Amino acid sequence: MDGRDLVRSMKAVGSVGAAQRVRTVRAAWRRRRADAAGLPARGAERARVPGPVQEVEPGPGGGTLRFSRSELRILVAVNGAVFWGWDGAEPEPSYALAGRCPEPDPRAVLEPDKDGGWRVVAERVTVVVSRHGAIDVCTPGGMTLRRDLPPRWWEPRDGGPARWMQRSEVAADARFFGLGGRASGPRLRGGTYRLWNTDPRRPFGRGDDPLYLTMPVQLVVADAATHLVFHDTSWDGTVTLREGEEGAGSGHDRSGFCELRMDGGPLRCWVVVGTPARVLLAWASLTGAPALPPAWALGHHHARWGFGSEQEVRRIVAGYLEHGLPLDALHLDIDHFDEHQVFTVDQDRFPKLPVLAEELRRDGIRLVSIVDPAVRAARGNAVYDSGVAEDAFVRDASGRLVEGVVWPGESVFPDFTHARVRRWWGGLYAERLAQGFAGFWHDMNEPASFTAFGESTLPRSARHDLEGRGGDHREAHNVYGLCMAWAAYEGLRELVPEERPFVFSRSGWAGLQRYGGTWSGDVATGWPGLRASLSLVLGLGLCGVPYSGPDVGGFDGSPSPELYLRWFQLGAYLPLFRTHASLRAGRREPWEFGPEVLEHARAALIERRRLLPYFVTLAHLARRTGAPYVRPVWWGAPEDRALRDCEDAFLLGDCLLVAPVLDAGTDRRAVQLPRGLWYDTATGRAYEGPGQVRVDAPLSRVPVLARAGAVIPVRGEDGGLELEVWTPARGRTGGGLVVRDAGDGWDEPEIERYVARWEGRRVVVERESEDGVHEPSHPVRVRGLGGG
Ligand code: NOJ
Repeated sequence: MDGRDLVRSMKAVGSVGAAQRVRTVRAAWRRRRADAAGLPARGAERARVPGPVQEVEPGPGGGTLRFSRSELRILVAVNGAVFWGWDGAEPEPSYALAGRCPEPDPRAVLEPDKDGGWRVVAERVTVVVSRHGAIDVCTPGGMTLRRDLPPRWWEPRDGGPARWMQRSEVAADARFFGLGGRASGPRLRGGTYRLWNTDPRRPFGRGDDPLYLTMPVQLVVADAATHLVFHDTSWDGTVTLREGEEGAGSGHDRSGFCELRMDGGPLRCWVVVGTPARVLLAWASLTGAPALPPAWALGHHHARWGFGSEQEVRRIVAGYLEHGLPLDALHLDIDHFDEHQVFTVDQDRFPKLPVLAEELRRDGIRLVSIVDPAVRAARGNAVYDSGVAEDAFVRDASGRLVEGVVWPGESVFPDFTHARVRRWWGGLYAERLAQGFAGFWHDMNEPASFTAFGESTLPRSARHDLEGRGGDHREAHNVYGLCMAWAAYEGLRELVPEERPFVFSRSGWAGLQRYGGTWSGDVATGWPGLRASLSLVLGLGLCGVPYSGPDVGGFDGSPSPELYLRWFQLGAYLPLFRTHASLRAGRREPWEFGPEVLEHARAALIERRRLLPYFVTLAHLARRTGAPYVRPVWWGAPEDRALRDCEDAFLLGDCLLVAPVLDAGTDRRAVQLPRGLWYDTATGRAYEGPGQVRVDAPLSRVPVLARAGAVIPVRGEDGGLELEVWTPARGRTGGGLVVRDAGDGWDEPEIERYVARWEGRRVVVERESEDGVHEPSHPVRVRGLGGG
């Protein structure tokens, strides 16, 4: 966009702005009125606790305990996960579960315990229920990992959903992670975190909470074991956490504490105990394997709100090519729509989109389209007309369409909790495919609806199908983005069965990984935003959503060249590596920050491309095991407390430890190493872990360390696959997995297993398979020998 275009488009935004402001005032009043009419006022309530246990009925995987004022169902599933539900809550129906609830473990039996309590003993966990309904989750060795105190409900006297509260204690040394995407993590310190997907409506920083993608999933890491706890309810609520304190051997430890308060919904939960890897494996088996992105989605993406025209897109792409910068995908934001209407194209500014898409594809660049759920409420808008014919849009309690305000003005919202609506919506992607788009970026799906006051979302009284059960937005809100992703994924599977759908979504909930990934949303430009970017990716990965990344450079304003570069260098090691910024923000192309930044950004891009086979391998492993690509440094050693508290570095798969620069003016930094020998990949220098070391972090790169013995698949100079092998420590062996992939499609590739070992003074690498040991099928380069 040239200067004049920019001014014109800003003016357009300004004038739309005035009309839009009036609409948002009307929308806020409408929302308020809808809720006043459609939601019962909260009257007097009656508090309830379970009371004493009276009767017990053993059943598959556990059984049912009847208390005087509630009942508790306990079930241990074959994958080792424990379920319990109060007041008759069963595992299903659930938006989080992938398919049916897993089978009960026939070996798990309910038996009497001391003091009138009961227990279920299973292979990896023992659950003890006290006479009054406290539930202890213990390791097989008898260490208590979590004690859930008897819950408390508040029931409206004149009917309606009960609010509830559950307090829990964890070990004094426990650390909390997860709860979806949190800017202040990855370690969640004491405080209250809300469970309500929210568009903060301005670029967010470290202190902003909640954000777009929340979920009631906590990963709790303690000396005794790691456990994941998931409260399967999509209602609004809060989680208050307090880390414990150890009394320095005095015996006066203070437990860690967690209090969950929900506005409604079933009180039911899943707990999985084990090592982090085991926990994430079981979590993926419950909520679904992460979707495998096509290989191109593991490259570099460039986006911007406001490219504004085909010429500008060509200019940007030409810039990438001229400067020798690899580019794999280019994203078009809402400015390519006709007056911001989803599934349309502005034919003046983008007259030949399919031709442009084809040209880009020839250069190996895919086009990705933004998709917003809000549909302009205007006859003549084909999506609106077909949605009305389909009865696809959310209605209020009196049956009228719920209208909100988003970019296209007065808008209506598909009810994605209805299978028929999902099918209709999924079919609409045919239009996008015909325009040449290969991937989809879901935005504004918390759902966001602009209001001058009150919450910027749909009225809570808005009705939803909820798979035929019927309910309102209080229950549907948090799963809205998840169900939109579901619709797109299923639609694309039908429309292009031979390709892996590429969908990433701003909002979502537990299980989003089945359909795609996510991104940071509008992270504020600044050093705290850079730190928040890493926190989001780590936290989401621990909640089972492994594919995400930030807006590199931050969403608003203009990063300094140094900040831009450090963000770029971090992004190069995250699953979604995308530069993006707002309409009014400064430039984000690598050549806009001077020759030095350009040179170092190029190096980061080239390194990312070199590591592509490793990223593809990590994507396959995530799908098979649930392990995120980006893992906290404590992943393999959660008992190492120094690692548990390290928040400024991460493991990329098993092989690499990345220590991004998160502060200005840094050219050296401390790195907390896990046990074993690690090589600085830039200098070849070896360091012995566990412990802290200081390494160089010049502007040209961020420190990346390779684990001794690692076998890493990389792209060789001729484009073929090579194995980069890091010399094992003397007397030790190493190895690694390689999954080669056609780049797209559904063929199930074989996992290649390599072993690296010393043979005399040489390091040899062999491929192990069922029929014996073979020469590797790829060229091998051994590094780290003699400091090389
Ligand atoms: C909000 C999204 O978070 C941002 O990435 C996008 O550029 C704008 N909406 C405009 O579509």
